[in-house]
Amino acid sequence: MTKLSGKTALVTGASRGLGRASALALARMGAQVLVHYSSGAKEAEAVVAEIRKAGGRADTITADLSAPDGPHKLASQVRAVVGDRLDILVANAGISKSATIEATTVEDFDRLFAVNVRAPFFLVQQLLPIMGKDGSIVLLSSLGAHAAVGTLSAYAATKGAIDTLVKYFAAALGERGIRVNAVAPGIVATDMSNFAKTDEGQAFALGIQSLKRLAQPDDIGGVVAFLASDDARWISGDTVRVDGGSKL
Ligand SMILES: NC(=O)c1ccc[n+]([C@@H]2O[C@H](COP(=O)([O-])OP(=O)(O)OC[C@H]3O[C@@H](n4cnc5c(N)ncnc54)[C@H](OP(=O)(O)O)[C@@H]3O)[C@@H](O)[C@H]2O)c1
Repeated sequence: MTKLSGKTALVTGASRGLGRASALALARMGAQVLVHYSSGAKEAEAVVAEIRKAGGRADTITADLSAPDGPHKLASQVRAVVGDRLDILVANAGISKSATIEATTVEDFDRLFAVNVRAPFFLVQQLLPIMGKDGSIVLLSSLGAHAAVGTLSAYAATKGAIDTLVKYFAAALGERGIRVNAVAPGIVATDMSNFAKTDEGQAFALGIQSLKRLAQPDDIGGVVAFLASDDARWISGDTVRVDGGSKL
């Protein structure tokens, strides 16, 4: 018996990066995991295969979360797999764009907010009818919402919106027993933070961190799984920094 056995979880953007690490961590703790992807079908199937090989339960599920009805379509697929009970939602899928204020286009701005803010908002809305009591919702914020890091103003604003949603969602859903939190990673070695894999990028990351190594997706996935678990039963409405002590 592990901490999340009998629980069902959806992780969006679980084909790679932090979503993949979160899905694997939740599965290790015994949850049945829905591994959502958009373009990375093969990668998502590999995550499911890894979970099943270790004796866990997982399925892939797909939707484009940049589309206005993406969350609605995803929620109906979730209901088709888990029926009327989802215990854990990790709204992780996201995009970033580094651009100066002058170079940021309306199209980039709208796409960032569509995927990073609109989609999690409506996914929560659409899944609420099947979120069980003692449910846990984990959203992905970012160090960038709390400190200026490079030319990321539009992206960082989407994460500031996530921190705000965490508070409002937690306040509204507490009476149903549902907890809502976010994790705010710093720079993590994923496709999104590809620059961190260069010497210059690594030096930048280590320069702003207290801990002197580059973060790996597992460093975040374990905290997501903790927040989803009963060990975090008295944490709600918080954004947890998981950034190796960045920009202290
Ligand atoms: N990496 C970092 O340094 C860092 C730091 C702070 C916060 N974060 C946040 O952590 C989350 C995960 O980041 P990551 O680094 O793991 O990113 P990543 O490696 O680029 O992976 C992004 C994931 O989001 C999915 N996705 C992207 N656009 C989508 C769309 N339109 N519809 C549905 N799914 C979509 C991708 O699915 P497909 O590949 O299947 O298309 C992929 O699984 C994001 O919210 C990000 O903002 C990351």
